[in-house]
Amino acid sequence: MPSEIAVWQIVEATARKLFESYGFNEIKPPLLEKRELFARGIGQETDIVSREMYCIEEASGDVITLRPEATAGVVRAYIQHQLYIHNSVQKLFTIGPMFRRERPQKGRYRQFHQINAEMFGDSGPRSDADIISMAFQLLEILGLENLSLKINSLGCHACRPMFMDKFSVFLANCKNLCTDCIRRSQKNPLRVFDCKVSGCKDALLNAPSILDFLCDECKAHFEELREYLDLLSIPYHIDATLVRGLDYYIRTAFEIQTDQLGAQNAVAGGGRYDGLMRILGGPDHPAIGFAIGMERIVALMEQMGKNPGAPPLDLFIACLGKEAFKKVLPVMKELRYKGLSTEIDYGNKSLKSQMKLADRLKARYTLILGDTELNSGIALLRFMPTGEQKEISVKNLTESLGDLWKC
Ligand code: HAM
Repeated sequence: MPSEIAVWQIVEATARKLFESYGFNEIKPPLLEKRELFARGIGQETDIVSREMYCIEEASGDVITLRPEATAGVVRAYIQHQLYIHNSVQKLFTIGPMFRRERPQKGRYRQFHQINAEMFGDSGPRSDADIISMAFQLLEILGLENLSLKINSLGCHACRPMFMDKFSVFLANCKNLCTDCIRRSQKNPLRVFDCKVSGCKDALLNAPSILDFLCDECKAHFEELREYLDLLSIPYHIDATLVRGLDYYIRTAFEIQTDQLGAQNAVAGGGRYDGLMRILGGPDHPAIGFAIGMERIVALMEQMGKNPGAPPLDLFIACLGKEAFKKVLPVMKELRYKGLSTEIDYGNKSLKSQMKLADRLKARYTLILGDTELNSGIALLRFMPTGEQKEISVKNLTESLGDLWKC
């Protein structure tokens, strides 16, 4: 809504500026992609793919989908346009709407917006540290407080199977899993960690920890990331149950949470997805990224009173009669061209109600112009904060008014 838009613009502008300083370029992938892309990329058994996507079947039989997230589409574009040819490391960001079939509630919408950043071409923990630093710094610059960063390592294709064996045995012995989790435990056991049902959450309290199964490379990667986060003074908690609801993650997974938004506490989430490019038909390029939920950031900023509201109006012209309107119409065009916000009343309201409108619009100056002023050649300009008035020549209105903002 217009009353909220200033916060959205601050968030977007701050992200663009910061991301540029980290060397990120903007990309605008389409909102529509083939269903197959998400099924292969995010994983058939995830909540997103199995029940949250909006799909449309075309006459050709192809199923197209309103994107539930941006990563798969960015990777598709990266492969299709061979972006990897020019630079070994590519950093891309995109801002826009995503769509998930959710039961709408505070902080959870069917159409929501993400600020999404992806870095391709480096597999080491240095890029993990840099990308987490960028996500955290953005939220800090926006003035958000009481954020907590959770990190985990999901291991790699070498060590994760050992954990999965142990975890599958553990799940087979769990008594109170919901029907979804019984299915998940057979098809994609890691997804049991995504379940919100309290019985399943309780059952997982004694689950084996994936961190106990990391191979030497994954362990070293995780340790080095922690060292860099310490160096950057970014506080974090290790959460071995943080698996994030998408199948593509390997090694680092992270989430930034708040305690100010109730149940929808994740404001940002991301991780490393080194195998995704290959799965989607591209080269074997490593990647890491994150997405920030804009509605949640905006809600936090509103709660903290960080909405500056609509910008004040530079000039209101209280215009009395058709002749006065004809005089000011080209003047307004020129002033607006110079970047001065200028407003009039389009009807034929009385001077009193036009002055009320000027107040409501928080006009800095109000010019009063009617037949009397046209005849005398002198109009009144009122500085609204003090009520002080001065006379200006009707002849050179554009220049006299434009001069007010020259300094
Ligand atoms: P995600 O955790 O699904 O990750 O979404 C990231 C953020 O989007 C969440 O932390 C939350 O703030 C916001 N979000 C998600 N769903 C909703 C919703 N229904 N309503 C409002 N906000 C929501 C991803 O999407 C990954 N693609 C992130 C990523 C990028 N990983 C690597 N690169």
